[in-house]
Amino acid sequence: MCGIIGISSNKPVLTDIINSLKKLEYRGYDSAGIATLSDGEINEIKSEGRVDNLEQNFDLKNLKGNIGIGHVRWATHGIPNRINAHPHSSHNVSVVHNGIIENSTILKKTLISKGYKFKSQTDTEVIVHLISENLKTAELEEAVTKTLKQLHGSFALGIVFKDIPDLIVGARRGSPLAVGYGPNENYLGSDSYALKSMTNKITYLDDSEFCIVKKDEVNFFNEEGKKINKKILELSSDEESYQKGDFKHFMAKEIEEQPTTVKTGIKEYLDNVNNDVNLFNFPWKIDEIKSIKLIGCGTAYHSCLIAKYWFEELTSLDVNIDIASEFRYRNNRFKNDSLYIFVSQSGETADTYAALDLCNKNKMKTCSVVNVIESSIARNSNYVLPIHCGPEIGVASTKAFLGQILVLYILALKLGFLKNELEKIKYQEKIKDLKNLPNLIEKTLLLDSHIQSISSTFNEAKGSMFLGRGSSYPIALEGALKLKELSYIHAEGYPAGEMKHGPLALIEEGMPVVVLAPRDNYYKKTISNMQEVIARGAKVLLITNKSDDEVVSENIWETIEVESTNKDLLPFLLTIPLQKLAYYSALKKGYDIDKPRNLAKSVTVE
Ligand code: F6R
Repeated sequence: MCGIIGISSNKPVLTDIINSLKKLEYRGYDSAGIATLSDGEINEIKSEGRVDNLEQNFDLKNLKGNIGIGHVRWATHGIPNRINAHPHSSHNVSVVHNGIIENSTILKKTLISKGYKFKSQTDTEVIVHLISENLKTAELEEAVTKTLKQLHGSFALGIVFKDIPDLIVGARRGSPLAVGYGPNENYLGSDSYALKSMTNKITYLDDSEFCIVKKDEVNFFNEEGKKINKKILELSSDEESYQKGDFKHFMAKEIEEQPTTVKTGIKEYLDNVNNDVNLFNFPWKIDEIKSIKLIGCGTAYHSCLIAKYWFEELTSLDVNIDIASEFRYRNNRFKNDSLYIFVSQSGETADTYAALDLCNKNKMKTCSVVNVIESSIARNSNYVLPIHCGPEIGVASTKAFLGQILVLYILALKLGFLKNELEKIKYQEKIKDLKNLPNLIEKTLLLDSHIQSISSTFNEAKGSMFLGRGSSYPIALEGALKLKELSYIHAEGYPAGEMKHGPLALIEEGMPVVVLAPRDNYYKKTISNMQEVIARGAKVLLITNKSDDEVVSENIWETIEVESTNKDLLPFLLTIPLQKLAYYSALKKGYDIDKPRNLAKSVTVE
C-alpha cells in the first residue's frame, strides 16, 4: 500500500516523478504529493485524490529541482485529505512513507515536549521531526541508523534534506523498496514497475537496510549503519505487458489473458516428452513431507482453499489452510515434516510475509507460489514456484488467481504421483487434460455477451449470494469477493449445504443467487440446495458445465454452461463467468474498475 518514488538526477525530475506516481496509483490513490529541492528550499505540493489532481491544482512549472520524492497514499493513520497526504515536511526535512509506525503516539509526545509542532494526523510526521532531532548531534548515516532503531512497525521511506541537497535516503523494514540505476541519475521506488520506464537495473533493499541515493552513486547500509554491497539485478523489459492496449481496463485485459497464463504455466511445468511434471530443484525428499499448510490472503487464500480439495483428492497428505493474518498470531504447532506454502500475487502482502518469516524463524520448509519473483516473499522462501502470469495491474486479482490454482494443481499432481498415491496412468491422463485447458478457457471467455446481459439484475438487487459445494465452494467465495470489491454490492459466498443453517433467512423474492453446480460428485446435492432457494423466491443463475443430461429443475432464471472436462479442472472454467459478472456489473455502475474504492493492489500493511 502507498507508492514511493524518488529521483536524484542532473536534470529536472518533475515529469518523471509524475509519470511514476501514475504507475504507482495501483498501490493507493486517496491522495498524492511531491517534494523537490531547489534553490536551497523544499518545495512541496499535495492533493486529495488522484495524481491528476496535482496537475490540475498546481502550476507545476514552479516545481523545479533535480532531486525529489513523490507518494501516492492508501490511508492508515488519518483520513485521506490534503493535510494527511505525503510528503510530510518541516523546513529542513521531507518524508514519504509506506507502512505503519506503531510507536508514533509515544514518539510524538516526546517530540512535542521538545518543541516540535505537528500538522497532520499521520504517524509519518514523527519521522520528519525524529530525524531532524537526531541530525542535531550526528552525521547523516548515524542519524538515520538511530532514527530507524527508534521506529517500531513497518516502513519504506524516502527522505530528502534541505541542507544535504544532493541525496535521498531510502529505508526499509517490512514494506518493499527498490533502487534503480539510470544514466546520470538514480531512483528509489516501491517496486520495479514504477521504475520500469526509466531502468531495468534494480537492487532490492532487504529488511532493516537503508541506502543513500545520489545522481551518480548509491550506497547501502545495514541496520548498524555499516556499508554493505548489494547485487544489481537486470530485469527483462516487457513494457507492453504494462499497457492496457485496446482494452478499456486492465481487468478486462487480464481476464482475456488467462488462456496465456495457463499456457505459460503448462510450458514452464510440464514435460511434454515424458508426460510428466517438472519441479526443478525441488529441495526436499518426498518422504520428508507428510503434511501441507497453505497460507494466503483474499483471493490468494481462495486459491489455498481450492488446492486443499485437490491435495486431499490426489494425495494422502494432511492438508490445512490458513488466512495469513490469523496464522501469524496463533499459537501454531510447527511441524518439521510439513511443507508451508505461501500464495501471493504481489509477494509483498504484509501478513503473508510475516507468516513466512515466522515459519523461517522456526526453521520450517517454506515454498512460495508468487507472481512477482523479485518480491520479498519469493526471496525469503526456501523454494519458489512462480506463476508466470506477467504484471497484474487491476486491483482485483483475476489471471493471478488462475495462475496460482494452476501451479497448486500441478504440485498436487506431482506429489500424488511421487508418493505413489496417484497411479501413473491417471497422472498422465490428468496431464493430458491439462494441456487442453487453455483451449477450454478461450471458449469460456466467449460467453461474454450473455454474462453482460445478466449483470444488470445484480446491480438492481440489495444483495446476492454465491453457492457451491466441494471445490466450487471456494469459487463461490471468489465470485462473491469479486462482485463486492468491484460493484460494492453485498455478496455472500456459502457452501450450498450450509444454507439451511442460517443464511436461507436472507433469501427473499427476486434476490439473485449464483449456484455453481458442475457435473461432479456434488451435482445432485447442489441442485437440491438450488431448488430450496428457488422455492423461497431467489432468482437463480445456474453455472454448470455442458452435458447431455438436462438440468432437472424448474424456474431457473438463467443458465450458463461452461465446457466439459475432467472434474479437477472445472474450477478454472467456473471462475471466468464470475469475473466477467463482476466486471460488467461495475462497468454498468460506472465505477473505477481498476481502482475500486478503499482498496489497493499491494497490501503492505497488516
Ligand atoms: C482480491 C484481491 C485481494 C488479494 C489479496 C492478497 O481481488 O486481489 O484479495 O488477493 O490482497 O494479495 P497477494 O496475492 O498480492 O498476496
